This record gives sequence, C-alpha cells and structure tokens, in this order.
Amino acid sequence: MPLDIESLRADTPGCEKVVHLNNAGASLMPEPVLEAVIEHLRLEATIGGYEAKSAAIDRIEGARASVGRLVGADPLDVMLTESDTASWAKAFWGLGLAGYLDKGGRVLVDRIAYGSHYLSLLQARERFGIEIEVVASTEDGSIDLEDLARRLEDRPLLITATHVATHRGLINPVAAVGRLAAAAKVPFFLDACQSAGQLPLDVGEIGCAVATGTGRKFLRGPRGTGWLFVAPEWSEQMVPIGVDATSGDWLSAEEWEPRERATRFEVFESSFASRIGLGTAVDYALAIGIEEISERIKSLSERLREQLTAMGASVHDGGVERCGIVSFTVPGFEARTVMERLAQAGINVVASDATFNRIDLPGRGLEAIVRASPHAFNTEAEIDLLVDELAAL
Ligand SMILES: Cc1ncc(COP(=O)(O)O)c(C=O)c1O
Repeated sequence: MPLDIESLRADTPGCEKVVHLNNAGASLMPEPVLEAVIEHLRLEATIGGYEAKSAAIDRIEGARASVGRLVGADPLDVMLTESDTASWAKAFWGLGLAGYLDKGGRVLVDRIAYGSHYLSLLQARERFGIEIEVVASTEDGSIDLEDLARRLEDRPLLITATHVATHRGLINPVAAVGRLAAAAKVPFFLDACQSAGQLPLDVGEIGCAVATGTGRKFLRGPRGTGWLFVAPEWSEQMVPIGVDATSGDWLSAEEWEPRERATRFEVFESSFASRIGLGTAVDYALAIGIEEISERIKSLSERLREQLTAMGASVHDGGVERCGIVSFTVPGFEARTVMERLAQAGINVVASDATFNRIDLPGRGLEAIVRASPHAFNTEAEIDLLVDELAAL
C-alpha cells in the first residue's frame, strides 16, 4: 500500500515550519510522540514522579517490548538507554569489566565506524593493549567480506561494524558479516543507529551479539533516548558498569549479583516520559510499516542523488544498495557554507567533517560533506526545492 503522505505530514507539526532534511541528525517528532511525552510529564507534575511511574508502568515496560518487536528480540534482551553511544559503551565495557579484554587481542572495525565507538577502541588499546584492525572496503565502500573472512581466521576478540554510516548512504551487508562472525565464533557488535526506523532490522537474522541505536533519528523519538540489544549468551558474561539497585541485587553486606540478561544494564533513574515517547515512536513506525517507510525514503533519496548529479554536485555515497543518507559536495563551496545557505532558505541539512570519522572521509580525500537525509514525510517538492536553492548558488 502506498503511504498516505498527507496524513504523515498532518501528524508532523514541524512540516509547517521547515523543510527538514536532517532526519539522520534528529527527525521531527510526530504529534502522538510529543503528546505521549508531555502527558507523562504532566502526570509526574500532578501526582508525583514515583506515583506516575507506577501508574504508567505498562507503557514504560511496553517501550522495551516495542523495541524488541522492531528488532526481532525478546524484551529481556533489550534495554533502553539515553543514546546509541551509551548503549555501545555499556556492552563493550561490560565485556571489559568481565575480563574479556585483559589479555589484549585483535578487534576488527569497519572503515565507516562512528567516532564515539572508535574512541572507546582507542581507550581500550591504551588500557588493555588491544590491537585495532580496520577491515578493508570494496571499491564501492562496503565492508570487504573476503578481507573480513581472512581476518576472522585468527579468532579476533570481536568485530564491530556499521549498518549505515553517519556520513554516507551505503548499506553494509551486515547479514553476511553476521554469518562470517558466527562461523568464526566471534561476537559481532552491530551499529544500527542510522538504520533503525528506515530499514528492516532483525537481530536474529543478522546474528549479532550486540546491536545499538538511538531514538531521535529515523525512529522519530525524543532526544536523549537509545536502545541496546544483547544476545543472552553474551549478556550473561558481561559485568554492568555503574551497577545500581535495578541492574544488580544486593544480597548481603558482602555479596551482589547482576540481574538476568540485558536487565543488568537497567538504571533506577531515567526520563520515563522520554522512554514512553520512544515506545510510542516505535509503535508509530511499526503501524506505518518499516518496509513502506524504507521504500519511500529510498525513492526520495535516489531522486535527490539524480538531481544533484545532474546539476554538477558530486554524490559520495557509494554502495551497491543505498538508503536515506545523501552525502555530497558542491564544487567551489565549503560544506558548511552550503549548509548555512540552505538554512537561510529554511532547509535543514548538516555539514559532516572528519571529526565523526577519521578513516573513511580523509581516505577518500574529503574534508567534509553535506548530508541531506529525507524521511517518509518529506515530499518530492521539498527535494526539488533543495536542488533549486543549490542551483541558485
Ligand atoms: C552511525 C552512527 N553511530 C552512532 C552514533 C551515535 O549516536 P548517539 O549520538 O545517539 O550516541 C551516530 C550519531 O550520529 C551515528 O550516526
């Protein structure tokens, strides 16, 4: 069924104010998400924060179950956090505290890895002496599966790979990565931060040990929300960092034990309004249909790529299959200037530089790119407007 774009826009108050093509940064929340967040804040203000939590416990717990449905996981293997980076760090340092990194060893990482994940690897190199190995890319920029297979032969500690990068629209073949990792019995950390909400995601099919994402991007949840999936065979080995009374049980003056599976990453204090907002956003996306959203985003993005190329801009996404991140440069203009000029015309995009990835962008001789990222509620006319504004430059 084709999507009803008018009704998606009617649900999205921000559509009246801006041409929002920065959904890979943070999307516009739809009205039901906004209402759910505000409703819970009002309840806290009216009856008390603890009492509001008890009253809304089904919706709060339901948010975890919704993320479970989105990624094909049991809710016990899902935890809500405040960001993708927080999720990834909980799992990675959870292995570190369990002694998994103590003897050093090799960690494989893809060229399009996100900065905050890579920073943890650099920290772990200083602390544990791990070696960081960057897996090669094929000519189109995707992870090179042959190179990965070779590197997996010597049993590295783990492989971490990105479904969709922050700075280019190619889709990595993560199910194939998962099959290779499973055959080599190496845990696979999947960064699904830019894919959740715009591409179908099934952690069982992909075979990852860990998957992480954020709420504010293509899922259209509130800022300050994230999610973490950990397969039970791995969560049971991880030791939660910063344990509190909901992630562990204090058994006696001398003893404690972590809670079961991913619930060991729970925290007592959190923005429950935001968690409810995230759950509502996931339910909203699932009700529309991830496949349908995905098709629409891909079609708008391809339209943009074609028009950019036709007007003389360079598109840098690569990839065999591409999604809703369109990275480009305009000859003679710095990325930041393009962003600012479009902002003056009421069009939101971002300029992304090497601070987010110091391997892939410099490796291709790029200092910075402009990133436009449409969502299903955007229109063809908005895409055309962006290109017209660029042509006017
Ligand atoms: C691919 C990718 N991974 C991870 C992150 C980090 O997400 P967060 O800011 O929620 O920690 C981002 C943020 O832009 C991203 O694009």
